[in-house]
Amino acid sequence: MKNQLEKIRQSALEAVKSADMMQDIEALRIKCLGKKGELTAILKQMGKLSAEERPAIGQLANEIRGKIEQAIEEKTKEIKRKEQEAKLLSEKIDVTLPGKATKLGSRHPLTVVLDDIKEIFVGMGFDIVDGPEVELDYYNFEALNIPKDHPARDTQDTFYITDNIVLRTQTSPVQIRVMEQQKPPIRIISPGRVYRSDAVDATHSPVFHQIEGLVVDKGITFADLKGTLETFVKRLYGEDTVVRFRPHHFPFTEPSAELDVQCFNCHGEGCRLCKGEGWIEILGCGMVHPDVLRNGGIDPEEYSGFALGYGLERVCMRRYGIDDLRLFFENDVRFLKQFD
Ligand code: DAH
Repeated sequence: MKNQLEKIRQSALEAVKSADMMQDIEALRIKCLGKKGELTAILKQMGKLSAEERPAIGQLANEIRGKIEQAIEEKTKEIKRKEQEAKLLSEKIDVTLPGKATKLGSRHPLTVVLDDIKEIFVGMGFDIVDGPEVELDYYNFEALNIPKDHPARDTQDTFYITDNIVLRTQTSPVQIRVMEQQKPPIRIISPGRVYRSDAVDATHSPVFHQIEGLVVDKGITFADLKGTLETFVKRLYGEDTVVRFRPHHFPFTEPSAELDVQCFNCHGEGCRLCKGEGWIEILGCGMVHPDVLRNGGIDPEEYSGFALGYGLERVCMRRYGIDDLRLFFENDVRFLKQFD
């Protein structure tokens, strides 16, 4: 029996030594010290021993039990310590690593140009106003001298929501809304989205942006229009920009004009950029038609004014040399991040 005990001691202590996982230790504890364990089995046979042998064997068995328990306890501590170390190691943070900077977005190129334009007009005493994109036919057309059968409607392919409601085809309806709400002096610009049912290509989009301008006061003349617009264009494109006003027709202004700037590339000679013209068309403008003033509740005998309408995409394309309108709306960050 003594031999058996010694064998158990030896094999148990060796097994504890080589164990390196908690479940090995637990299995071992059950195998040796458990109710049906090896050591317990031996102790159960003690009754068969003679009275002389019993104390010595009992003492040995207890000693072995104590040793095994101690070895198990030590090993358990060691395994737990190792597990803790491994956990700490895996969770280690290198505080010397450079941080991850939050990336800020950039302004859309159209916003960059629009912000410049706003700044110029605000510097000249203009307010910035907003108007609805879903607009009554009345404001978008009728009140601007474009009745139902007017040919100007053909050039502005309209998205109709109902017979009376459209997606605005221009920012000009804001003129009427402002005049209805505000008495002169009026000096506003109104930038925003406009819609026309055009097929998408490099120069057309069913949604694009315009900037409307309106000035109404006593004694406003064509000279004010020319002075204001020339100042605006020179601030935007540079002081050496050469401009010309060319007669044109708009239903809501009389007289009407288009403002051209001399081609920056060929200085009037004619080149690919200006399609051989020497001049590039920039905006439409004119003296507000007396009927339009009247529709806005303003007496044309007392007041006069000028207006302008300006396409944002075209200006932006020219400034940055962008040759395809679709790039503005595709939201490809590789394109968008280049401008701000
Ligand atoms: N609304 C015109 C268009 O979409 C642009 C325009 C021209 C606006 C002359 C004006 C203006 O206010 O005076 O083509």
